[in-house]
Amino acid sequence: MNTHVDVLKDANYRLSPSATDAIEQWQAANPDRVPVHTQKWDVADPAIYAEDRWQPIFAEMRATAPINKVTGTPIGEYWNVTTLKPIQHIEALPLIFSSDMRNGGFVLTNMDNSVIDPTAGTNFLGMDPPNHTSRRRTVAPAFTPAEMMRLTELVRERTANVLDELPVGEQFDWVERVSIDLTTAMLTTLFDFPWAYRHYLPFWSDWMSDSRFGEDPELGQMRLDAMMEMADCFGKLWEQRRNAPETPDLLSRMIHSEAMSEQDPMEFMSNMALLIVGGNDTTRNTMTGIVEALDRFPDERAKLEADPSLIPNAVQECIRYVTPVAHMRRTAMQDYEIDGQLIKAGDKVALWYISANRDETIFTDPDRLIVDRENARRHVSFGYGVHRCVGARLAELQLRVLIEEMLKRRMRVHVTGTVTRLRQNFIHGFSKAEVTIEKA
Ligand code: HEM
Repeated sequence: MNTHVDVLKDANYRLSPSATDAIEQWQAANPDRVPVHTQKWDVADPAIYAEDRWQPIFAEMRATAPINKVTGTPIGEYWNVTTLKPIQHIEALPLIFSSDMRNGGFVLTNMDNSVIDPTAGTNFLGMDPPNHTSRRRTVAPAFTPAEMMRLTELVRERTANVLDELPVGEQFDWVERVSIDLTTAMLTTLFDFPWAYRHYLPFWSDWMSDSRFGEDPELGQMRLDAMMEMADCFGKLWEQRRNAPETPDLLSRMIHSEAMSEQDPMEFMSNMALLIVGGNDTTRNTMTGIVEALDRFPDERAKLEADPSLIPNAVQECIRYVTPVAHMRRTAMQDYEIDGQLIKAGDKVALWYISANRDETIFTDPDRLIVDRENARRHVSFGYGVHRCVGARLAELQLRVLIEEMLKRRMRVHVTGTVTRLRQNFIHGFSKAEVTIEKA
């Protein structure tokens, strides 16, 4: 681990302000440039997630118009797809419903404000087959069951260390002490990233994943500035690994692969961004969501305490309940009719996983966490089709081990202070969750 010489020793990148702080300060200074969402079904509105009031809005759409088009919003018009089967149907047609950055990408935002030239570089989530296929094949071997077996002991050891350091009977922020720490450590392993510089990873990740970057060109520029520092860092590591024999970390795998060794710097940076956000924000927010949900539904925690064999199913149920990626966006490449709705070529289509995971026709009592729910695995939190999350097994491993180690320690985590939810429509999660541990 981290066997390479320290190529970052002269690096002096920023670690503040965080994306959240910087965006909030900017918005306070520029109130007239903050988009105003006035329509009930304009679920791109970040406020409904920050205030945790998205549930009835999506429930109403599912009941009355599961596929609907909203117009006249700050990001123009777009389709909402809110139930599970149509989302899977659309994702099974990646050439008709494109995620290519040149067509608009995979985030429901205004690309005109993104500042990033959409032709300059893209990651493989922002590519359609066949370009997507070869790149995914390069990365996928890092997430095989055999690789997961190899990583299990390390994940368990790190999780145990973090949990053993936590205070009992004293309030602390679970996001900072547990969720960020564990997911950041995992990324250092995946990339063989220098441990001493690991704090940059969540800093950059937050800058990349905050979907408000599309709200104004100035925010887009601020994000680009952070990404350029990240690009500089990974550029140094790229050079170093290119000149060394291949090792099992993801950076080295990409550099020595046929499909990805010739990436231009923008594509490389974009793929690093994808892997960092993929490995960081999603799992991190599920780790926080798990403790929030188990505290909200103490009977479900009791079931797990009584029968730990439920843990693998509980992991799926927690991923369903939390849905850390609220949506993926696609753009229609041709007219296509689905469930009586005609989506026209060029239309933006938002696939709301957060709603599909509460689809009453699939999940009974969907707003409840039920750790022994029979069909928890049917959730679409990892997406569907060719882009289905390549890191799903790793996320499941980390979450399973976290719950196992908490139960082993008879640890009950209660929310006792402030819970702050992210103000954005892409990553669904928490920036703070003040909790207190009680030992059963
Ligand atoms: C609970 C944790 C996670 C969730 C909920 C999640 C969710 C998702 C979703 C929704 C997609 C897009 C799927 C689609 O468009 O159909 C995706 C793709 C992806 N995820 Fe994850 N993810 C998680 C963890 C991870 C981890 C740990 C990694 C790796 C370090 C990762 C790396 C990726 C990559 C590289 C893609 C692009 C795949 C492609 O385009 O072929 N994710 N993830």
